Amino acid sequence: MTITPTDPRDRMIVALDVPGVAEAEKLVATLGDSATFYKIGYQLAYAGGLPMAHDLIRAGKKVFIDLKLHDIGNTVANGVAGIAKLGAAFLTVHAYPQTMKAAVEASRGSGLQILAVTVLTSYNNDDLKEAGYTLGVADMVAQRARQARAIGIDGIVCSAEESANLRAILGRDIALVTPGIRPAGSAVGDQKRVMTPARAIAAGSDYLVVGRPVVAAADPKAAAQAIVAEIAAAS
Ligand code: C5P
Repeated sequence: MTITPTDPRDRMIVALDVPGVAEAEKLVATLGDSATFYKIGYQLAYAGGLPMAHDLIRAGKKVFIDLKLHDIGNTVANGVAGIAKLGAAFLTVHAYPQTMKAAVEASRGSGLQILAVTVLTSYNNDDLKEAGYTLGVADMVAQRARQARAIGIDGIVCSAEESANLRAILGRDIALVTPGIRPAGSAVGDQKRVMTPARAIAAGSDYLVVGRPVVAAADPKAAAQAIVAEIAAAS
């Protein structure tokens, strides 16, 4: 099974990191056919973004719900079932074995794919130690990736730097979804580990999550088209 979309447009996921539905709808209209896949995270979801997910799906777009679920298994399963009914394509959960198992089981038979977040990219070894963990970031990412594969997860959210190592652990059938993408010359913002679209594709990422390089661009459509062209050239 190949999990990499054949159309390079489908490999770019635009993060709708805007304060409300009106701004999100305006951006989607501006981008038109240049974007086919959108991510709705905390900011928009808690500002009325979930009904908008439904509208996007009806308009033929794919939607990634980035709510990073983590709770007791029964609650996770009920949340996943609701998101599956919405018709979303991707949903994130934290990569705890119980949470991943509950999510994978609840999504079975639906079109929803579960992505696991191994270790948040804002955590370093000291942060993990402070939180009571004995493993460092690299070892915990590897351990959770192996657990994710055993549980049957559909994809992993990772930095492009982790893609090559994770590909070796996970094989070809698990999607690698990568934020922290910055076309050459664009502002890095608060991201600590960034890569250009071309380098992330070369490192093995299947999907690139792009927020500010498109959302904050003077011409978002031109920015999206340039990123898709770079993905196409690197594929
Ligand atoms: O604006 P920028 O391109 O940095 O946005 C990246 C998007 O990916 C944001 O929505 C952010 O929440 C998300 N993300 C991330 N790092 C992770 C997981 C998700 O930047 N480890």
